[in-house]
Amino acid sequence: MCGIVGYIGPGDATPVILNGLKRLEYRGYDSAGLAVLQNGQIEIRRDAGKLSVLEDLVRTRPVSGHLGIGHTRWATHGKPDQRNAHPHIGMTGDVVVVHNGIVENFLDLRQELESECAIFKSDTDTETIVHLLERYIGAGMTLESAARQAFSQLRGSQAIVAFSVREPDRLVACRIGNAGGVTVGVGDGEMYVASDIPAILEHTRQLVFLESRQMAVVTADGYTCQTLDGAPISHSVHTIPWDPVSAAKGEYKHFMQKEIYEQPRAVTDTLRGRVDFGARVVDIENEIRITPEQAHRLQKIIIVACGTSYYSGLVGKALIERIARIPVEVAIGSEFRYADPLIDDTMAVLAITQSGETVDTLAAMEEAREKGALVWSIVNAIGSQAMRVADGCIPMHAGPEVGVASTKAFTTSIVDQYLLACYLAQLRGTADPAVLRQQIADLARLPDLMGSVLDRTEQYQELANHLHQYNNFLYLGRGMNYPIALEGALKLKEISYIHAEGYPAGEMKHGPIALIDENMPVLTVAIQDHVYDKMISQIEQAKARNGVVIAVATEGDALVAAKADYVLYVPQTPELLSPLVTVLPLQLLAYTIAVWRGADVDQPRNLAKSVTVE
Ligand code: AGP
Repeated sequence: MCGIVGYIGPGDATPVILNGLKRLEYRGYDSAGLAVLQNGQIEIRRDAGKLSVLEDLVRTRPVSGHLGIGHTRWATHGKPDQRNAHPHIGMTGDVVVVHNGIVENFLDLRQELESECAIFKSDTDTETIVHLLERYIGAGMTLESAARQAFSQLRGSQAIVAFSVREPDRLVACRIGNAGGVTVGVGDGEMYVASDIPAILEHTRQLVFLESRQMAVVTADGYTCQTLDGAPISHSVHTIPWDPVSAAKGEYKHFMQKEIYEQPRAVTDTLRGRVDFGARVVDIENEIRITPEQAHRLQKIIIVACGTSYYSGLVGKALIERIARIPVEVAIGSEFRYADPLIDDTMAVLAITQSGETVDTLAAMEEAREKGALVWSIVNAIGSQAMRVADGCIPMHAGPEVGVASTKAFTTSIVDQYLLACYLAQLRGTADPAVLRQQIADLARLPDLMGSVLDRTEQYQELANHLHQYNNFLYLGRGMNYPIALEGALKLKEISYIHAEGYPAGEMKHGPIALIDENMPVLTVAIQDHVYDKMISQIEQAKARNGVVIAVATEGDALVAAKADYVLYVPQTPELLSPLVTVLPLQLLAYTIAVWRGADVDQPRNLAKSVTVE
């Protein structure tokens, strides 16, 4: 998705913008640009390609000033080229805009503006915003009034930042719907705006988050907030705990690698303050905010998510049904929002979203609220929309997940669902107390169990040397590890561009077995759980067809080692926690193969960290 950075203050806007955009590179983009007010003129530098192209432009044609905005664009309307790159300026050269989202009524607006002799220089929907601002400023309005007037006419979700040469002491920033965030950063005599926290975290950790249909007017000394109707609003300033260092790669080659290895610590942070290991009790009362009466009335939980978060929900279904004995459905956000789902006030809808800004997941939350359900969320990005609109939220506390391919958010979101299941079981009194206390006690070992897998990674390089040349993989799992097969396949697909398919192992004989031959590596999750014997026969069936079998197995399992071509061992783990260790070899394998193939691991082609448009 697109990224936005803005600055106003006594310093030079150009380096603030360039460094801020660099911290947003992970969001995926195909062009970049900036606009700075210099000597009373708006100077623009922009082009297709990566930030390095923009940096070269600025190096050859330097620009500096105390007010500026920058943008990385993921093309929606108009090819990713220089004329469509942001920022966009109108005909007078007085106003400049950067924008995330889609102006759904941009064709009507463009026709209306062109009938007033507006000349469009790009194919973007964004340019309609510039011309609307010019129309109203040209009619004598201030930037603030013109912005309210112009932005109120836009349909769809937007994040917009703009300034005018006529009012060099301010910029306006506006959020409409869920096109990614708009955050105001409070500095000392200088101010920042950004679409994402990491862009400005090195300058300030005092942040204000705009809600939908809200606008901020930002000067070097501060900000005011208002609705698009002009009603003043006051926003509390959040102090964000993320420090810039933890968002940097450290000694790792890629953010994804760092985040894979961070998982034991991330899970430790997820558990912190929520489990009394002495009393063996879970307490998330202040987060999920459900009364015992509501917990008893709960007839069903519907988990809604996309991509990796959807696979996390599939694991969560098993956890909540097995521990709390509450029926659970799991739905894909983009399907759920248009399915007119059967929901009522005896249900809770749980959204799982790392970014907290996935448009389909947010829309599903809105649908649930309109139908009277409790709306919960499990979110990583502090202050994101899915966190703020929910009745109760259990943050993942995974820390910044910068790699586009999700890893620690996946595992910490599963831990959150485990905690939710235990907490609901406590409130409802539906579990055997001794069993529940043991399930809670098991959590204490989890970081070490995960760490023991991550301590032995030398074998992955050799495995990648063998496997990188294959073009198709099949991932098989059963029970709680069927979602792990799906997730493992997605990891390989999205970072190495190798086709991979996850399948419930029992389905092999219903079709996929026709695919298996010496050109088809088969990854099986075959740990010693209640479906182990079935997995052993799956491995035998694949071997009988000359398939190359890589098995994730329980340490010391000689039977699997005798049958499979390669074995990736994980420690003996309580079955309900097993997905948290079995996913690690699949993350490491996908990462190592992708690096072997020279792929852009942290910013895979065509992908974005947060899908804020449909
Ligand atoms: C996961 O590796 C992918 N990047 C993608 O499937 C992601 O999980 C999905 O877009 C959902 O994102 P969210 O968790 O931020 O809602």
